[in-house]
Amino acid sequence: MEIPFAEAWKIKMVEPLRKSTRAEREQWLKEAHYNVFMLKAEQVYIDCLTDSGTGAMSDRQWAELMLGDESYAGATSFYKFESVVQRIFGFKYVIPTHQGRAAENVLFSYLVKEGNVIPGNAHFDTTKGHIESRKAKAIDVTIDEAKDTQKELPFKGNVSLEKLEKVLVENKGNVPFMVLTVTNNTVGGQPVSMQNIRETCALCHQYGVPVVMDSARFAENSYFIKLREEGYADKSIKEIAREMYSYVDAMTMSAKKDGLVNMGGFIATNREEWYEGCKRFCIPFEGFLTYGGMNGRDMAALAVGLMENTEFDMLDTRIRQVQYLASKLDEYGIPYQRPAGGHAIFVDADKVLTHIPKEEFPAQTLTCELYLEAGIRACEIGYILADRDPVTRENRFGGLDFVRLCIPRRVYTNNHMDVIAAALKNVYDRRETITRGLRIIKEAPLMRHFTVELERL
Ligand code: F0G
Repeated sequence: MEIPFAEAWKIKMVEPLRKSTRAEREQWLKEAHYNVFMLKAEQVYIDCLTDSGTGAMSDRQWAELMLGDESYAGATSFYKFESVVQRIFGFKYVIPTHQGRAAENVLFSYLVKEGNVIPGNAHFDTTKGHIESRKAKAIDVTIDEAKDTQKELPFKGNVSLEKLEKVLVENKGNVPFMVLTVTNNTVGGQPVSMQNIRETCALCHQYGVPVVMDSARFAENSYFIKLREEGYADKSIKEIAREMYSYVDAMTMSAKKDGLVNMGGFIATNREEWYEGCKRFCIPFEGFLTYGGMNGRDMAALAVGLMENTEFDMLDTRIRQVQYLASKLDEYGIPYQRPAGGHAIFVDADKVLTHIPKEEFPAQTLTCELYLEAGIRACEIGYILADRDPVTRENRFGGLDFVRLCIPRRVYTNNHMDVIAAALKNVYDRRETITRGLRIIKEAPLMRHFTVELERL
C-alpha cells in the first residue's frame, strides 16, 4: 500500500476553539454592522479572515524568542535576521519594519511623488493605498485571463507584458518603479512564473524602471515554480527564491505570511541610494535601523521562520491543505478562482449569488451568510475592498467579487477544512433564497473595507 501524505510537523501546543449558536451570530453580526472585521475573535469558530500573522510558530522559533537581544542599537538578533535575509534573497541592505505596509510606507515615502504612475500585477490594497494617498496612480497590468475564474492556468498571477509596456511608453519619465507581487494575492493567491518575472524585469529595465517585489508569499510562489515550471523540478525552494530576486531591484516584505511570524516586515535592496533614502523615513516612522518597529526576539524568530518556510516539505504541507479544501468545493460544485491559490480559496460570489446585483455587494453578502451558517469568518476581496475611484468617487465594479477563505499556516487540520466546505455547501444549496444584499451606511474615503458599516436590504 502506498504510504499516504501527512503534515511535515506534529502539534505541541493547542488553543481551544469556541462554537456559538446561530442566534448569537445573528446578534453579533448585526452589532458588527455586517462587517466581519468588527467581530470579536471569540465570536468566530474557524477564522479564515487572513493568513497574515495568524500562523503557528515552531518550537525553534519560540526558542529563539528567549534568545532575543533587545538592545536599541546593534542588536545581535538584528544581525541574525539580516544575514538570513542576505542569504535567501541576495540583498545587501536590509531595513526591518513592523509589517509589510510599513515597509511600503518607508520605501514609497522616498520613491513616490505626486502624479507618478506605478504599474503592478494587482497591487494589494495597502500598496494601492500608499500610492493613491500620495496622489499617484496604481495601474493593474495583470493578464486578462486572471479574470476568468474558471480558466485553469499554472501562472494566473502573471504580468501582461503588453499592458506593462503600454504604461511604460505612455508615462515615460514618470514611473518611479513597478510593483511585482508574488503570489498575486488580489487575483486569488495565483503565482507568477520565473519566465514572467524575468521578462517583466527585462522590459522595465529596458525603460529604465526598477522593479520592487512585493514578497508576502514569495515562498509559496517558489513552490509553484518548482512544481509547475519546466526546468525547476530539481531546484530547491531556496535556489528558486534566490533566482527570483536576482532579477528585481528591491523587495518589500510582510513577514506575517511567508516569514511565519505574527508580526514583522522589511525592505531589502542592493541599491545604496535607495537604502540611504529609506533610512531617512525608517527612523522617524519605524525606529532605529537595527529594529525598525520590531522586537529583537521577533527578528530572531523571523530569521528561523524564513529558513523553515523555504523548505519544500513545509510548503508542500501547506499548499496541499488549501488544495484539499478546493477538492471539497469541486465535489459540491461551488465556483472559485481556479486553480486553488497558495494561501486561500477565492469563491466567485458573482457566480453564487446570481440574484444579487453588484450594487448590493454579493461577496460581502456571502461572507455574512457563511458566518451565520457556522461561525466561519472569511473576507470580502471584491467591490467593497476595491474602494471608490479617487477621481470620480464611483464604486469600482470592474474587478472580481470574491469571498476569500484564507488558510492560516500550521493552524487548522483537514477536519476544519471539511467544516468550512460543508458550511459553504449549505449556503450554496440555499443560494436561490438569498435575493437581497447589503447597503453601505458609513465608509472611510480610503481602505473602507476595514471599517465600513452596512445594513441588510
Ligand atoms: N502585500 C501583500 C501582497 C499583502 O497580501 C499584504 C497583506 C501586504 C502587502 C501588507 O502587509 O499586512 O504586513 O502590512 N495582506 C494581508 C491579507 C493583510 O490579509 O492579505 P501587512
